Amino acid sequence: MEKKYLFSPGPTMLPPEVLLKMAEPIMHHREPEFEKVFAEIREGLKYLFQTKNEVMTFTSSGTGAMEGAVSNLLSTGDKAIVIRGGKFGERWGEICKAYGIEFVPIDVEWGKAVDPKRIQEILQSDPKIRAVYTQASETSTGVKHPIREIAEVVKRFDNAVVIVDAITGIGVFDIPMDAWGLDGVVSGSQKALMLPPGLSFAALSDKAWKFVERSNLPKYYFDFKKELKNTKKNQSSYTPAISLFIGLRESLRMIRKEGREAVFRRHERLAEATRRAVKAMGLDLYAPDSPSNALTAVKFPAGIDGEKLKALFFEKFGITVAEGQEQAKGKIIRIAHLGYYDRLDMIMVISALEMLLKEMGYGFELGAGVRAAEEVLMG
Ligand SMILES: Cc1ncc(COP(=O)(O)O)c(C=O)c1O
Repeated sequence: MEKKYLFSPGPTMLPPEVLLKMAEPIMHHREPEFEKVFAEIREGLKYLFQTKNEVMTFTSSGTGAMEGAVSNLLSTGDKAIVIRGGKFGERWGEICKAYGIEFVPIDVEWGKAVDPKRIQEILQSDPKIRAVYTQASETSTGVKHPIREIAEVVKRFDNAVVIVDAITGIGVFDIPMDAWGLDGVVSGSQKALMLPPGLSFAALSDKAWKFVERSNLPKYYFDFKKELKNTKKNQSSYTPAISLFIGLRESLRMIRKEGREAVFRRHERLAEATRRAVKAMGLDLYAPDSPSNALTAVKFPAGIDGEKLKALFFEKFGITVAEGQEQAKGKIIRIAHLGYYDRLDMIMVISALEMLLKEMGYGFELGAGVRAAEEVLMG
């Protein structure tokens, strides 16, 4: 028998409730029945994003909403600041480049969070900056960026907005969009929303919608103005991934039932257990100072090859964890705990890590990690 488990930071494991709903016969997206689904999703997403404004849903992976957050907000000649502390920060820069937007990168050492003071200095010295693009949780390094503090800085500049890629942030930790004054928040379905890949989300503040009004960059599929108009009519501009919408209604119901704060607390606890476990095994965290509760990136001592370990996870236990990317390749593995995970899921993956490391010759006391996790997870 070969059981499979996903512990990658997207796609993540799915609840049977969601899978079963998606297996129901498909409905037509221009029927009143679908409009009801759409209306419920709109409310559920506003609850999750903590905004009074609409959250638009696109049939694309998360990058689609990121692209839209550049092409709909900026205009020719505008400049942007891009926080580059990992693969996904780099992606903001690549999107800006594709649209001819000059950007000032803030290169942050991988594993570290950005210092908001740097953003203030650049905004003060360059009046052409119109947008600051950042991650809430940089999935390639496991870092959580201080988006609340970044928003505090950007708020003081009438001509600039802050746009947050919260693809592994929304539904993991508290990101009160309106209360913190975030101008744009984008997310994706295959993470804490407990769905397969295929949907992306974008919500904008009133300030950001004014930027949309004057934006002259080319856009077609990801046309936020058009999508907003349709969203308000419980429609999407083009044929949506209907089954994913049905699944989304279910996962949003599950999140509401558990309660937003309880969801955040669960993630906090699973993350804390994982961090304590790896430390008890004598391993180091890749992002010790500002870790995200979405995933834990674990560093290995010389002699333990992260790529090989990742392969063994799958071969021996059917478990998919993520390896390091680019400069972190071979040096780390990333264990996810965002979305449909509970306490014993983490015990399982930590136990597998212990067995594999022991077999690879790493010296530590077998059971030390599981024990440390249990101490966090009991009660
Ligand atoms: C922080 C972050 N941003 C962007 C993306 C890209 O999303 P997608 O692969 O859904 O386009 C991911 C996916 O892993 C992510 O974790």
